[in-house]
Amino acid sequence: MTRTSVSEPLPVVRVGMLGFGTVGTGAFRMLQDNREAIRRRSRTDIQIVKIGIRDAEKPRIAPKELLTTDLRSIVTDPSIDVILELMGGLEPAGELVETALRSGKHVITANKELLAKHGSRLVALALKQGLDLQFEAAVGGGIPLIQPMKHQLAGNDVLKVMGILNGTTNYILTQMFEQGKPLEEALAEAQAKGYAEADPTNDVDGYDAQYKLAILSTIAFDQVVPPEAVHREGIRGISTREIHFAKQLGYRIKLLGIVERMPDGAILARVHPTMVALSHPLASVNGVYNAVWLQGDFVGDVMFSGRGAGADPTGSAVVGDLIDVCRNIRIGGAANFVMPEEQAKPAPLESLRSRYYLRMVIQDRPKALGCIATVFGNCNVSISAMEARPLGQRNLIEIVFLIHPCREADFLRSLKALRNIHIVENISAWMRLEE
Ligand SMILES: NC(=O)c1ccc[n+]([C@@H]2O[C@H](COP(=O)([O-])OP(=O)(O)OC[C@H]3O[C@@H](n4cnc5c(N)ncnc54)[C@H](OP(=O)(O)O)[C@@H]3O)[C@@H](O)[C@H]2O)c1
Repeated sequence: MTRTSVSEPLPVVRVGMLGFGTVGTGAFRMLQDNREAIRRRSRTDIQIVKIGIRDAEKPRIAPKELLTTDLRSIVTDPSIDVILELMGGLEPAGELVETALRSGKHVITANKELLAKHGSRLVALALKQGLDLQFEAAVGGGIPLIQPMKHQLAGNDVLKVMGILNGTTNYILTQMFEQGKPLEEALAEAQAKGYAEADPTNDVDGYDAQYKLAILSTIAFDQVVPPEAVHREGIRGISTREIHFAKQLGYRIKLLGIVERMPDGAILARVHPTMVALSHPLASVNGVYNAVWLQGDFVGDVMFSGRGAGADPTGSAVVGDLIDVCRNIRIGGAANFVMPEEQAKPAPLESLRSRYYLRMVIQDRPKALGCIATVFGNCNVSISAMEARPLGQRNLIEIVFLIHPCREADFLRSLKALRNIHIVENISAWMRLEE
């Protein structure tokens, strides 16, 4: 059905873009394709007036006359009301965002690294200037997550947040699980399909998820959680053997970001591969999809899921923020939320209480199992399930243990003690479990 266009003259909002890559192109296309709906809903006439890029020769879907390689001229242009920072990286993006705010412009950014490292300072500057700084696209791509946490869920005391925050690693782990591919092959396929970059470090080693969890933690717990306070492990160590046992035991392996407030008020934030029970809502989130599960004291359990990356979903989040900012401009204000100033006290990972998976190779000797059980017992670690099979070489046995909930410090102590007993050939792998 064609809707009639808004006939009344609408206030013009002039927008400058910094970056016109994947996200910039997606946002630009949405503003073009859904122009009438966006006019109707924002009650403004949004006009992209300048676009900053690095390479003036690249073919673009935007008119050439809008393009410039002088990005400073955009953030200082007095006729521009809103800046979309979609270039990424710390600098020059950080300096440009700061200049834009100091020059009286609202800012929308998708830059998780900049926000995780300097978000508090930039939000404080925006507040001081009476401007908006919005960043829905920075976490979870197209999934509405930041706005609901800042608004509809703001009355809750958040107990825990847990999510699949990186689509690339979720795609790789899904391929490993469903197709039995080794990590290198699944990664090469993700690169060929454009889901992973040529240098996959940011995704595979967990930095991307670490930045996103730092942002979510800061909003959820109202205290600044910098990225360095988030424990980080990537997926490089995941072997097809762990995938095999995860399947057999009724789990899937996911790279999870998890944050919770400990009884002493400290914040425990961590990103690591996790064996997730099949009954868990995050176990069925596969491929490039992202999902975040949140538990609040009044709302209970809430789950958000959708496409965590890509031009269209991320562009959708940027345009959603832009419409929000335009509405604020119409009423002459900003809806910036107050970013906390207080630093969170980080909880040590050793204070975690978790279940564990452990795979090891031992010598097939009399009383070997008793010896291992004694080590566990001495460290307050108890076994909930066990599976053993001969390896058929040098009298060796591969054993997999599932461990009842225990303190991580105790579990690590038991690993150290096990490595020192002569019947243990090697500790092959271990992982935390989520039920
Ligand atoms: N891609 C996603 O799915 C996704 C999802 C969520 C969030 N994000 C975030 O969104 C931001 C943009 O990501 P993207 O994937 O769209 O990146 P991209 O495709 O690499 O595009 C970056 C754009 O910024 C321009 N640019 C970068 N550095 C510049 C500089 N120093 N001077 C001038 N122009 C510069 C590039 O210009 P040229 O075109 O001339 O090279 C390009 O147009 C990042 O912060 C990223 O973390 C991305």
